[in-house]
Amino acid sequence: MTTDLSDFIHGLPKAELHVHIEGTFEPALMFAIARRNGISLDYPSVQALQDAYRFNNLQEFLDIYYIGANVLIHEEDFYDLTMAYLRRCKEQTVVHTEIFFDPQTHTDRGIAFDTVIRGIQRALEDGKGKWGITSRLILCFLRHLSEEAAFQTLEQARPYREWICGVGLDSSELGHPPSKFERVFKQAEEEGYLLMAHAGEEGPSAYIREALDILGVVRIDHGNRCLDDEALIQELVERQIPLTLCPLSNLELKVVQNLSDHPVKRMLDQGLLATIHSDDPAYFGGYMHENYLRTAESVGLSRQDICQLAVNSFRASFLDDSNKEMWIDRVKTYCADSG
Ligand code: HPA
Ligand code: ZN
Repeated sequence: MTTDLSDFIHGLPKAELHVHIEGTFEPALMFAIARRNGISLDYPSVQALQDAYRFNNLQEFLDIYYIGANVLIHEEDFYDLTMAYLRRCKEQTVVHTEIFFDPQTHTDRGIAFDTVIRGIQRALEDGKGKWGITSRLILCFLRHLSEEAAFQTLEQARPYREWICGVGLDSSELGHPPSKFERVFKQAEEEGYLLMAHAGEEGPSAYIREALDILGVVRIDHGNRCLDDEALIQELVERQIPLTLCPLSNLELKVVQNLSDHPVKRMLDQGLLATIHSDDPAYFGGYMHENYLRTAESVGLSRQDICQLAVNSFRASFLDDSNKEMWIDRVKTYCADSG
């Protein structure tokens, strides 16, 4: 039976591999939490706040994103934030999610690492219990801060090692190359964390090269700019290094000028292990469903391409091999039955 494209994407099992929990903070929840914490936001209404979400580049977004995160104070706030995101996963058939969190955004304001991670972790456990959603948690270092600060954050994470599967690198990319974090990534690797980094979103392809060669990452977040370097493309294809793309983020931050220019289709055609995710869905106009649907419509993805993206999302995940295969089989069955 052929279904409508939106219904087809809706029911397709998907894994989210690139989402910042602070970027899922919907304005309505932000206002509610601000009110209960006795904090006043600089915007008179949800609408006024949303109207401010117009960005010319990554930094303009980050400036407002960090302000929003300031209202998160108590463990309950981090719990509510994470539960609200997991509810969206449930509604959109996102069955597995790997979530970034930015501890420094909170610890630098005097919020304990323990408060942040306990709230998130408890929600992840409840999301698994209520809806069967599996998850991983990934600690991101803020790259505009020093390597010394990243070392302190890694130290703070030590008591919670079993809750955190990997470390990543986010925030302002230009001027903060992966090589700045060589030693702290080495330390994280020795402690058994999986390694990944945002690279080639606004920064050049050389930053992707550094993330691979100097940090030793197993996954690249974004990675759009790899297309500038033929040898790099070849290596990414050969090694099947995942690129976690975020099309609506790329549109809103002017990484691409039109969604129809998005390189995801070209990447798939070249054999790159490309996947689609939401990055900061509360700020960029959509969760996984909207990212898949709008990209499919704008770029002209076939149902086969869409299935490939869903298969890739599980292949690129940190699930164990048997769960990866189980979900890939389910995606294939779903595609065969409803294509
Ligand atoms: N890029 C870099 N840092 C970020 C992003 C992003 O898209 N979202 C949240 N932090
Ligand atoms: Zn990101």
